[in-house]
Amino acid sequence: MKHAPIGVFDSGVGGLTAVKELHRLLPGEDIVYFGDTARVPYGSRSGETILRYAKEDVAFLLSKDVKLILVACGTVSSLLPPAYAASLPVPCFGVVESTAAAAAAATKNGRIGVIGTAATIKSGSYVEAISKLRPDIQLYKQSCPLFVPLVENGRVSKDDPVTAAVAREYLAPLQKAQVDTLILGCTHYPIIAPVIASVMGPKVTLVDSGREGAKAAAKALQQRGLLSGGAGGAVRYYVSDSTEGFDELAHIFLDDYRRGTAVQAPWDRL
Ligand code: DGL
Repeated sequence: MKHAPIGVFDSGVGGLTAVKELHRLLPGEDIVYFGDTARVPYGSRSGETILRYAKEDVAFLLSKDVKLILVACGTVSSLLPPAYAASLPVPCFGVVESTAAAAAAATKNGRIGVIGTAATIKSGSYVEAISKLRPDIQLYKQSCPLFVPLVENGRVSKDDPVTAAVAREYLAPLQKAQVDTLILGCTHYPIIAPVIASVMGPKVTLVDSGREGAKAAAKALQQRGLLSGGAGGAVRYYVSDSTEGFDELAHIFLDDYRRGTAVQAPWDRL
């Protein structure tokens, strides 16, 4: 079991923000990543559809004999019933609790903003997680449905005028609310963190849900005695659509990603 890979999934490239951190924290671990690029975005779909997709993603990772599943998708993390996660044969974690805890620890003025997909914001997952930790915190929510398609289409440069204009419009209410901490509640958003940071200004702390989820998964593996203790772990990438677009973005975002590494996962496994 210890030598099995860690499973990570997302609707597309967003979960790479978690892979980057997991690989940095645990360089000896093997990782299997699945990006459901044929069905991205998840965040504008119904809860029922998102859950159906998520269960198929989990089944795919289980078929790769993973020892733990990190749900590196804020949308699925917000909707997946805890009882379902607990029924799986391996530990399964989302990103919401760890990200909420990091934001609650970071805020100084008690005003936190959270941005995410429409489904994440509608679910109220962050309101619930933050109010359990610190009921005194004021949480300001904003869904940003255009961010995922922009990222998946490669509009990720700091100077991209379209992404910057969209960011200015979405983030204006949070600037007005004077939040000092902003939760990037969708794992795609850290990829455009430079654009978001330049709109929010240097005084606002950005909390990266991919990174926080990865840290929590690393801690859970350590606590359960599930680390392989090996060296030079490898990452295997699977996507449900053609590998071309994924290659392009993974190459920009992950320094050590080699083009042509991703494999198109057969649909009959989903
Ligand atoms: N990375 C996913 C998330 O964290 C994006 C969801 C989507 O596909 O809309 O929410």
